[in-house]
Parts: sequence; C-alpha cells; structure tokens
Amino acid sequence: MIMPGGKPTMFFAISMIAEPGAEIIHPTPGFPIYESMINYSGAKSVPYDLLGDKDLKFDPEKILSLITDKTRLLVVINPNNPTGSFVEKSVIDFLAEGLKKFPHVAILSDEIYSRQIYDNKEMPTFFNYPELQDRLIVLDGWSKAYAMTGWRMGWSVWPEKLIPHITKLAINSFSCVNVPSQFAGIAALDGSDEPIMEMMKEFDARRRIIHKGLNDLPGVECSLPGGAFYAFPKVIGTGMNGSEFSKKCMHEAGVAIVPGTAFGKSAIDYVRFSFAASQENIKKALEKIAKMLG
Ligand SMILES: Cc1ncc(COP(=O)(O)O)c(C=O)c1O
Repeated sequence: MIMPGGKPTMFFAISMIAEPGAEIIHPTPGFPIYESMINYSGAKSVPYDLLGDKDLKFDPEKILSLITDKTRLLVVINPNNPTGSFVEKSVIDFLAEGLKKFPHVAILSDEIYSRQIYDNKEMPTFFNYPELQDRLIVLDGWSKAYAMTGWRMGWSVWPEKLIPHITKLAINSFSCVNVPSQFAGIAALDGSDEPIMEMMKEFDARRRIIHKGLNDLPGVECSLPGGAFYAFPKVIGTGMNGSEFSKKCMHEAGVAIVPGTAFGKSAIDYVRFSFAASQENIKKALEKIAKMLG
C-alpha cells in the first residue's frame, strides 16, 4: 500500500487488529503514536522497556515473555525513535524464531529508518522470515531515507488476507496519495542512491560530534546511536529531570529538544536530541548548553 506517510499504517493496523480486551506489546520509549493509538482503540498497552540496557536496546526474551493468549500485535521499531538504538540481525533472528510459537500474534515492524544505519551494519528486516509473512506488516517510506517527510509518502506491506480490509480503510479515508508526491516518490526510487550515502556520511559525522559533545557535558551520559538521527542522553546527573532540562535548554540556551517522557512515562531522566541539523548548529547548541550548565 502506498500511504500518505508512515503514520496511516500505524493508525490502520491498530484500528484493524485492536479491540477492548486485546493486548498490544510495544517499545517504551518509542514513537508516541503507537501508545496513543493503542489507548484510543481500547486495547491494553503492554510496553517493553528499552532503558534497562546501556545501549537502549530491547531484550527479545523479555518481549517473548510478555506474550499471553490475549496478545494480538507486537510492535517492533528498529532503529528506534527516540533512542537511536539499533538491534542487530542475531537478535531479530532470535525474536522471529520465538514468534513462530505464537501464531496468534501479528507483527508490525516499523522499518522507517532502514536506510539509516551506521558502521556498515546490515538492516535485519522482518522480510527475512517467510514463516511470519501471513501475519506481518512492514512499515517503511520516503520520509527518512529520502528526507521527504513533507511530501507525505509512505509504504507498507500487508498479509494478503488483510489487503481487502486495508483497501477499504484507504478508500474511505485518504483515497490516494496526491499525484505530484507519487511522481516524486518514483523519481526518488529510480534515482541514484548516491545522495542517500552522502547524507549518511554527514549524519555519521554529526552523530560522532553530538555523542562526544553530550558525554563531555557534566552530568550527561549518552550511548552511541546505531541508527536514525537521534541521541537520547540521560540528564538526571545534572540535577534536573528530562522535562526540567529541556525547558532550561529552550529558555536559557535557545536549544529545542524533547523531554524523554514525550515518548513514554519511564523516560523521565532522558531527553531526545535530533541531529538533523548542520554540524555548525550542533556545535553551537552544545556550546550553549555547556555554558548553561556552567
Ligand atoms: C519510528 C517512526 N515511524 C514512523 C514515523 C512516521 O513517519 P511519517 O512522517 O512518514 O508519517 C516516524 C516519524 O518520525 C518514526 O520516527
């Protein structure tokens, strides 16, 4: 399905699969639409925590242990927003193997950052597991790989049996993606991948600057992002929680970041920095925050 961005796939998948009494397992902190859609649907949100691990990665055994008879859907976001954490193929292999034992659980794999992985690592897509295809939804799109967020172009792959239902939802809501965006999307796919590679080289340089700069700040600890363009430091060592730290950054340093709790209640000690900004601005922001912290 060609969708107006990644978000409609979340909205439609959860509308279709969830209902009161059903359980949906999802990452926390994670992209906030998932939890809000689960709550809206009346299903029970069953979060799996990423903060227990120093690199903010999920534990596949923990995820499998959360599955019950009522579980209908598992959401996996890899690489993850807001943590920038990336889980490698061996971990996804383990999770996929475990999921074979639970045929009543559908999987929504959010792979929107699939082209934004560092250190030459391979993207462990759920397309690798043919045994799961009849209950697998993969979400991806143009927003991140081609920096086309405003064009509203996304795609998702659905199990064949769900196609009549998703078609009905699409026809009754957005009809189609506007035609100029579709042509732009085709041009992006037909064009060279060189600009993506160049963009990733630049993102990698920014990632190293922000990772080092944040760890040099007193009271701030940050793991190295493995994918996407977010750094998710713990800031409680400054004497402020994430919300206090973000407000101070905004009002005293003029730097806009997001408190961790925007992505899940447990992330109270964290904040998210997006490094979709120039190296110069990242350095300037770090200097201003250093000054603010004295
Ligand atoms: C994990 C994740 N999935 C999906 C999306 C939504 O992308 P889109 O702008 O294409 O709706 C985002 C956007 O930030 C995201 O971080």
